[in-house]
Amino acid sequence: MARQWPFVGRERELAAVRKALGDGQLTGVVLVGPPGVGKTRLARAVAEHAESGGAAVRWVMATRSASGIPLGAMGQLLAAWDGPGSHAVHLLPNIARHLVDGAAGRRLVLAVDDAHLLDATSAALIHHLAVTGAASVVITARTGVTVPDPIFALWKEGLAERIDIHGLARAQSDELVRQVLDGQVDGATLHHLWELSLGNMLFLRELVEGGLASGALGRDADVWRWKGPLVPSPRLTELIDARMGSLEADEQAVLELLAFGEPLGADTPERVVGPDALSAVERKGLVVSERQDRRVELRLAHPLYGEVLRQRTSPRREKTVYRQLAESLEAAGVRRSGDRLRAVTWRLAAGLPTDAEMLRVAAESTMKVDYGAAERLARAAVEQGGGYAASVVLGQVLIGLGRSAEAEDLFAGLWFRDEDPQRRTELAVTRVTNLYWGLGLPARAATVLRDLSPEPPDDQAAPELAALDAALFPPYDGAKQTLQLAADLRGVDGAVDATRLQALAVASAALRRTGRHDVTVRVAVQAREAVAATPPPLGLTTEWAHLQLDTGCCESHVFTGRLDEAERLAREGYQRAVADGHATAKALHAGWLGVTAGLRGTMRTSLRWLRDATTGVRPDGLPLLVVLWSEIIQSAVVTGDLDGVPHASRQLQRVLGEGGNAYAPWAGLAPVWTAVAGGRLREAERACLAAADHAERDGLLQAHLVALHTAVRLGTTLPVADRLESAATGADGPLAAAFVDHARAHAAADAAALDRAADGFAALGARLFAAEAAAQASALHRARGVRGGGNASALRARAWAQECEGARTPALGDLDSSSELTRREHEIASLAASGMTSRAIAEHLVVSVRTVDNVLHVVYSKLGISGRRDLGSVVIGGSTYLSE
Ligand SMILES: Nc1ncnc2c1ncn2[C@@H]1O[C@H](COP(=O)(O)OP(=O)(O)OP(=O)(O)O)[C@@H](O)[C@H]1O
Ligand SMILES: [Mg+2]
Repeated sequence: MARQWPFVGRERELAAVRKALGDGQLTGVVLVGPPGVGKTRLARAVAEHAESGGAAVRWVMATRSASGIPLGAMGQLLAAWDGPGSHAVHLLPNIARHLVDGAAGRRLVLAVDDAHLLDATSAALIHHLAVTGAASVVITARTGVTVPDPIFALWKEGLAERIDIHGLARAQSDELVRQVLDGQVDGATLHHLWELSLGNMLFLRELVEGGLASGALGRDADVWRWKGPLVPSPRLTELIDARMGSLEADEQAVLELLAFGEPLGADTPERVVGPDALSAVERKGLVVSERQDRRVELRLAHPLYGEVLRQRTSPRREKTVYRQLAESLEAAGVRRSGDRLRAVTWRLAAGLPTDAEMLRVAAESTMKVDYGAAERLARAAVEQGGGYAASVVLGQVLIGLGRSAEAEDLFAGLWFRDEDPQRRTELAVTRVTNLYWGLGLPARAATVLRDLSPEPPDDQAAPELAALDAALFPPYDGAKQTLQLAADLRGVDGAVDATRLQALAVASAALRRTGRHDVTVRVAVQAREAVAATPPPLGLTTEWAHLQLDTGCCESHVFTGRLDEAERLAREGYQRAVADGHATAKALHAGWLGVTAGLRGTMRTSLRWLRDATTGVRPDGLPLLVVLWSEIIQSAVVTGDLDGVPHASRQLQRVLGEGGNAYAPWAGLAPVWTAVAGGRLREAERACLAAADHAERDGLLQAHLVALHTAVRLGTTLPVADRLESAATGADGPLAAAFVDHARAHAAADAAALDRAADGFAALGARLFAAEAAAQASALHRARGVRGGGNASALRARAWAQECEGARTPALGDLDSSSELTRREHEIASLAASGMTSRAIAEHLVVSVRTVDNVLHVVYSKLGISGRRDLGSVVIGGSTYLSE
């Protein structure tokens, strides 16, 4: 528990303090802020700074218990003082002199903590010291409480500057948690800690320490994560209790209503408890109100109040509170659709009779915020006779919870009982979606589809089945039907048809396997537009279809080489998912961020995202985990961070399970990289081909292309170029073409073509591939005795490799460092490449023009180029490699 909490952030506040104390006009600062924001800690940092600058710092800690005693706060400081007793006229000057003498010639700095608790005499003494210039003062005080007059006078008279201290910002709070835990922290956990502490450092600290002590905050492999529900530690509960102060019974009742029902209008607590109690808790600052449209909404002043109150309420009392909430809402008249959902949720929690249809609707809309609650609602809906519709919702909640197998059992059971053609289509699509997407079993999905309709369906009668059929069965030519379906997303009533949306998600995923990424992107855009034009939100089926379409779109951007777009989309999705507490969505978006970073060559960043992606989801709960774990193995090998490899390999086997996984061929790349790590390159090449065969068999084009290209990166002598080229014919986007260029150039041992391939990768932002191709070019140039060309390619390779966060791969290993440019040569070459004349460079560097020209000649000859014109293509802008 005695872990060090480092000091983070506060740059702005520290600068303000330094400025205030440094300008000679002022003798002090007063740091004012709400409880627990970090005033004392900041004052300590200021004091440490002053001390290291040679000042003598003396602390005055004001406390409630000593506040009634004259000079009570100064007790410690005056222990050695034997001056005259109280009320002597010279008392203050005498003490002041005593303190100044004690500083022995150093500047005296008085740090006064919690000035609102100072006794009057101490306050007068501090005022005296500041006014006479005998000492500088650094004072902390809470907002909203009265400070003694002499202290207030300091800033009123302009002797001290008042600096407002707010809670730490989100980024700093995250950084603090990372530093304290000394490791990577799962993004959802950071979000959770932030939501509960809201920048209050005291709460943050108690949450983290409490979580560590109870084991709720622990490590999953390499990543720290909050597991299970938040139960405030006894210490935190005490702190919050102290903050809430002693409560009258009716005040407690108001807070309980809010703890279970917030946000609430004022009418509910007024009706259930009474207006006085509400005013009382508002006055105490325990409840805050804010205007929403035309209503005033009440909330607890801090989210942790709710946690503590809920934890302390007995189950019986909880039921009563829910009953009061439900009855009060119904008495007021349920007006808005949101109210109806709240009423039904509260009735269920109160054990009151409910309506199955309402429960189903409530389950659908709760799902976005809380799957656990949605499952309870959906089960209650099924139990209360909600029938087919309720079961379908329950199945979808299960999918959301990563329990797709349970959902499939449920759907299969429904299937045999239903005759209605429209419902059968609906259910078929849902089942296929779940099998394809939730369980990652495309072959099973296809079989189920054929069982449902042995004949290929008619485009007119069931366009969603027709699109699925065309996309899921060879020759996989469903692009036309899929695009048609996207164009017809809205049914007769103008609303987006949820079944169609699901079918679209699956059909475009199937086409993506064959390299038709452009279909995915077009479909995703059309779906977004259609849904945006159709208020209100359509419930959970659409949520799921959207997730598939959006992450599918990330995938397509990645594999076509549009890395910026992939990143933007994935980042937005990640933030949304974390805010919504949607574990699967978070994993998918973090996963694509990781894969994107890997393609960029920023391998450590990639590893971080990939680890985040695999944290907080069930180990077998997501088919994409196959890609993520094998990418983790690659990134770990490339960055030399091998510790996690055995764990990743085990997890990979686990998610592969009994076979059939949609992404299974990606797993074939894991042995490639473990062989590379062991230096067994021939074995690695053979593993590439095995992975390519598997991918080809399973019809997963992307893995096929990557596996073959990996062999090229490893410098294979096996004939892969033709195969890569013919496989890539059907693939959309420039990345596949860049793979082909690289393979062709490598097979032909054409150094110039390899240089061009490197440029192709660099243009896409794939820097590691660019560096590798350039390194291969450099080796070829040199083998041919073209020294200048070899140096030029090596220079480019190093410049790109330098942005790859320490990546080491076999191709980069060939780069020797015998003929780098010196620092001076590089500097001059960069300036010349930027368009400066020799004269301008000479003036800039204060050397002669001759020197500049001489250096440039050496550079041209080292790089084998004829002059200034060629420099630009070799000296890569800004990012430079320098020999030391
Ligand atoms: N910038 C910071 N970096 C790291 N930890 C901090 C920072 N600020 C505060 N803390 C930690 O947060 C906790 C609360 O901070 P602190 O005691 O300074 O708050 P305060 O505003 O003085 O509270 P109070 O009003 O209760 O006196 C402490 O454990 C402190 O170490
Ligand atoms: Mg304090």
